[in-house]
Amino acid sequence: MQISCDYLIIGSGIAGLSCALEAAKHGQVVVATKRARDESNTKYAQGGIAAVLANDDTFGAHIADTLVAGAGLCHERVVELCVQGGPEAIAKLRGYGTRFDRTDAEADELDLHLEGGHTKRRIAHAGDATGREIERALVEAIAREPNIRVLEEHMAVDLITLAKYGGPEVCVGAYVLDIESRTVITILAHATILATGGAGKVYLYTTNPDVATGDGIAMAYRAGAEVGNMEFYQFHPTCLYHPDAKNFLISEALRGEGAILRLADGTPFMPKHHPLAELAPRDIVARAIDFEIKRTGDDCVYLDITHKPAAFVRERFPSIYNECLRYGIDITAQPIPIVPAAHYLCGGVSTDLEGRTTIPGLWAIGECAFTGLHGANRLGSNSLLEGVVFGHRTAEALKVVPKQASWPTVPDWDIGSAGTPDEAVVVTHNWDELRRLMWNYVGIVRSDKRLQRAARRIAMLQEEIAEYYWNYVLTRDLLELRNIATVAQLIVECASARHESRGLHYTIDYPNLDSQRARDIVIKRGVPARHLWR
Ligand code: FAD
Ligand code: SIN
Repeated sequence: MQISCDYLIIGSGIAGLSCALEAAKHGQVVVATKRARDESNTKYAQGGIAAVLANDDTFGAHIADTLVAGAGLCHERVVELCVQGGPEAIAKLRGYGTRFDRTDAEADELDLHLEGGHTKRRIAHAGDATGREIERALVEAIAREPNIRVLEEHMAVDLITLAKYGGPEVCVGAYVLDIESRTVITILAHATILATGGAGKVYLYTTNPDVATGDGIAMAYRAGAEVGNMEFYQFHPTCLYHPDAKNFLISEALRGEGAILRLADGTPFMPKHHPLAELAPRDIVARAIDFEIKRTGDDCVYLDITHKPAAFVRERFPSIYNECLRYGIDITAQPIPIVPAAHYLCGGVSTDLEGRTTIPGLWAIGECAFTGLHGANRLGSNSLLEGVVFGHRTAEALKVVPKQASWPTVPDWDIGSAGTPDEAVVVTHNWDELRRLMWNYVGIVRSDKRLQRAARRIAMLQEEIAEYYWNYVLTRDLLELRNIATVAQLIVECASARHESRGLHYTIDYPNLDSQRARDIVIKRGVPARHLWR
């Protein structure tokens, strides 16, 4: 089956849906998304979205905070664009129907939070479940838009580039698996926009939901696009540690409100790691926790907010309070057991200031994109902001994309002689092995030896996956496994090329910052990781 549209947007988180709402003003949009339309990292965002809204705040201060966190690798023009676009992004989200918390019910003034790394209160939020509210409003807004068609349970498998069929290097759409009917359809588009989010599932422990398997990055890489800075994976310091909790985040906002990190015996440990203690940038906090867990041999450390009035905690953090209570932890009376977990990918598919990738016809926005905003470390609450700002910038740029009079001829997906898999255990085993080896060898603290070990094992797993891929019919699990293996390979290649410790990349073999290496690492299929001066 073949369908066509002006703009194919792959992914329905904040970036994809913000872009869709604006692009629908000048063309027909198809949004393909691999599960229910609201399932995304966006839905689970807690703390909020950063923007300069307070009287005592300035663009200069937000820019400076972002640059400090980014450890010398932020692209300053991108930082300026995002920070200056903050107030409009918030206004747009409110226009779509997002209800942010206000200082009081009568006032229009938003209630702003403080988070680690921010020198001012600038986090607009909806309780402690900001993403859920934003995603709700966006999903309702697209339902009112006749120019947008949403295909749920439709997973993009691969991009369609004409180069593959002897034509020019241009992307004209994607092959998409309809999960229910198990058929692969061809979607042709004048512009294809990747908005597929992050890749937390590449690690054993993550704050991300199951959809975060780096599909967009893997597809773009296979198609020949440039990918960059994959070594900078952000580990969130505080994920709930409980055998029954899969991936529940304990927001940074708790530390913003004074929560203290303690060892099992109650000793606070952050002051000895950084002068800002609990409010230090999150890479430093995550590394400090990792260090203390390894030093003490304990399974976790504790985040303690019991010194705050119980009513304040319940009112300020209702979702976190209730979720922890489900696991028998009353956070007003007991410290919360926590561990760090993979949270956010700063690298991704390289783009320009409008979201264009290095392949004509292909764009990337949101967490799957590498715009240069975050540098070597993302400042908390800047990613929702980036999703809206770049979603809108891309939609604006799409206006001038020519709408060709006829569609190119491309073959339908060839299922060849694929049979039904008889050993699903191969997929589950490889999933587990890959995520575990990434956690153990390519986690918060790295070394050359560990990276080499990881590279060897990933190559072996990829061989096995390829064999399975060509011999059996496609399933979501198999496609995701192939994609996380590609993302793992890209993280290891970039990490191996960075001979210094900077931002989120810390290696015991090169523990210091090297001022000569304040540059991005980019990588392309068939071309080894190389340093690119920006
Ligand atoms: P997502 O919201 O992840 O959306 C990606 C979409 O693509 C999904 O719909 C997914 O199903 C779809 N998709 C993926 N692959 C395919 C495919 N092959 N085919 C079709 N569809 C596909 N950031 C902040 O700024 N502030 C916060 O407070 C904050 N808190 C967070 C808390 C948690 C627990 C997590 C996990 C993240 C948090 N972040 C926060 C980060 C932020 O939520 C994400 O970076 C952001 O939401 C990413 O938006 P996105 O639109 O790029 O991707
Ligand atoms: C959090 O609420 O701690 C997450 C914020 C973020 O990831 O930006």
